[in-house]
Amino acid sequence: MSDKSTNIESLLKEKRIFEPPEEGRAAAWVKSLDEYRAHYRRSMEDPEGFWGDRARELVTWDRPWDKVLEADFHEPSIRWFSGARLNVAANCLDRHLAVGRRNKAALVWQGEPEDDVRVYTYQRLHTEVCRFANVLRKMGVGKGDRVSIYLPMIPELPIAMLACARIGAVHSVVFAGFSAHSLENRIRDCEAKVLVTADAVLRAGRTIPLKPNADEALRNCPSVSRCIVVRRAGNEVAMEPGRDSWWHDEMAADDITDRCEPESMDAEDILFILYTSGSTGKPKGVIHTTGGYLTYAAHTTQWVFDLKDDDIFWCTADIGWITGHTYIVYGPLALGGTSLMFEGVPTWPAPDRFWQVVEKFKVDIFYTAPTVIRALMREGVEWTRKRDLSSLRLLGSVGEPINPEAWMWYHQHVGGGRLPIVDTWWQTETGGILISALPYATPLKPGSATLPLPGVDADVFREEGTPAPPNEGGHLVVKRPWPGMLRGVFGDPERFRTTYFERFPGVYDAGDGARKDEDGYFWIMGRLDDVINVSGHRLGTAEIESALVAHPAVAEAAVVGMPHPVKGQTIYAYVILKAGVEGTDELRAELRTHVRKEIGPIASPEVIQFSSGLPKTRSGKIMRRILRKIAAGDYGDFGDTSTLADPVVIEDLMAGKKALL
Ligand code: PRX
Repeated sequence: MSDKSTNIESLLKEKRIFEPPEEGRAAAWVKSLDEYRAHYRRSMEDPEGFWGDRARELVTWDRPWDKVLEADFHEPSIRWFSGARLNVAANCLDRHLAVGRRNKAALVWQGEPEDDVRVYTYQRLHTEVCRFANVLRKMGVGKGDRVSIYLPMIPELPIAMLACARIGAVHSVVFAGFSAHSLENRIRDCEAKVLVTADAVLRAGRTIPLKPNADEALRNCPSVSRCIVVRRAGNEVAMEPGRDSWWHDEMAADDITDRCEPESMDAEDILFILYTSGSTGKPKGVIHTTGGYLTYAAHTTQWVFDLKDDDIFWCTADIGWITGHTYIVYGPLALGGTSLMFEGVPTWPAPDRFWQVVEKFKVDIFYTAPTVIRALMREGVEWTRKRDLSSLRLLGSVGEPINPEAWMWYHQHVGGGRLPIVDTWWQTETGGILISALPYATPLKPGSATLPLPGVDADVFREEGTPAPPNEGGHLVVKRPWPGMLRGVFGDPERFRTTYFERFPGVYDAGDGARKDEDGYFWIMGRLDDVINVSGHRLGTAEIESALVAHPAVAEAAVVGMPHPVKGQTIYAYVILKAGVEGTDELRAELRTHVRKEIGPIASPEVIQFSSGLPKTRSGKIMRRILRKIAAGDYGDFGDTSTLADPVVIEDLMAGKKALL
């Protein structure tokens, strides 16, 4: 395992090229680099023709569109498939019933306990979704109403999402690892009418109660009138009369039938909101709409994962994040595919759990995150060798840059040295993959996300907004709209404009750093804003800082990312205590618990350094660059420090850091 500096070194040295495999190529959706280039060319010359064709091929519309695209990145306003109507749940379920897929597995669910397996055929999933849609309708949920979903990785989660989609309600899934406080903020922001939750989460052999978090959150959420609780673990839970009811009771009620007419939605009606961290304290409610998102989810699932009718596709993400929304639920189901959903973790009860699941279900396509690969790599190759992985045909990676060491290990030990790896770059905001290899077309360079997908006009810009020459690092931007892109920030149009369209007028600013090499391959360098990527999870430093300063002992806090061999980055917090408070290990532990409670366990700082000051400019701005360097133990060159109000602070911080070691 290597640290960040050697990763960067090996990235720069990386010259190996892996050609796409011959096996599987003849049957692939996109068969060659020439074919990719032809699609790309057409998508740039005639974007409306290209996307119109894809939308017709992949989606069933109740009414066709009047215009494929109306957009202006300056305003910004983006409309795809104007005037068209469709229902997402009908696309993911009903239409497959009519074409011979009734008895095909739509969702294969493996619970954490080995014996907990449920297989939903398309017919059965349809029935469950219709019934739950009727439950929601009975509670007065209708088109445009918001429903918050706070569930572990159990089938009721996609069922609830699809039920919302069926009746035109907007779902807002909140990752079950978030705290009561985070849940509360998200429910309050979108003013949900109903919350769907569970008694507990099963995780690594433990039962972690979830309902108490929901109760705590709902104390301050007047918009929520009903709370539906799934029984997962069977632990004792308090139920509030009039507000709370059990999922199984609601679903079994006499007046709940298997039939539920889908609501015909406008292509630009909201399908869901998903909150994500940005560089300010408050998470943004990213808005995705109906027609464009579904088209894009289906399109990218088909081309990037080369999904075929009898494949088993396993995306290991949690549905609480965008990756699970698009590549466990909407993409595979829109295509009539079979999606595997797993409740457990990679290393419990043993570090071969993922490989055991692959072996058990004969998984064809496996999509995971670099942090998982690095963690499993540390456990040694005996765990991959123990299992038969020969069913696999294609591997994927997402969430952060994959270092060449991890890439090679994945290729060799999971892919048997023969499988293509698609390193997919995208974001909550993009709805689906934007930059990735196509598995049977694109020669791979380990560590590079390779080329933009057809229809994606990506580039690297210099600070002043002009294209950077090959191999010069800059800002990753997208110069024209794609159907899966966000349409706004819920309740905050101004933030939508300033976050994504202000720095480079008329262009989408992804907030990532990247360079393009001499072959046009993209190498993603990570976030340029104050967002940290911990194990592929996006966290805003400002959010963690405001959680810290909410503690009575803390006067001020500054949080930065620190390189970590498994998690990619980890959280390093500089904390200034109030006068008279002593910086003890007990206080450190208390602050960690406090952050877990405020945001969730993923936000808990790995390192807390108590300090007496922060490096600030004379105008009071914290120079995070310096804090990042000290956190990384890189004391070499702090760059220009002439604007610092008090240069002595640096010496103090360095001494404090050394004392921690
Ligand atoms: O910094 C990029 C990184 O993850 C960010 C998006 O995070 P989120 O919205 O949570 O979505 C994660 C899953 C799509 C990006 O701005 N990122 C994502 N994929 C990659 C990546 N960085 C490098 N390579 C990738 N393949």
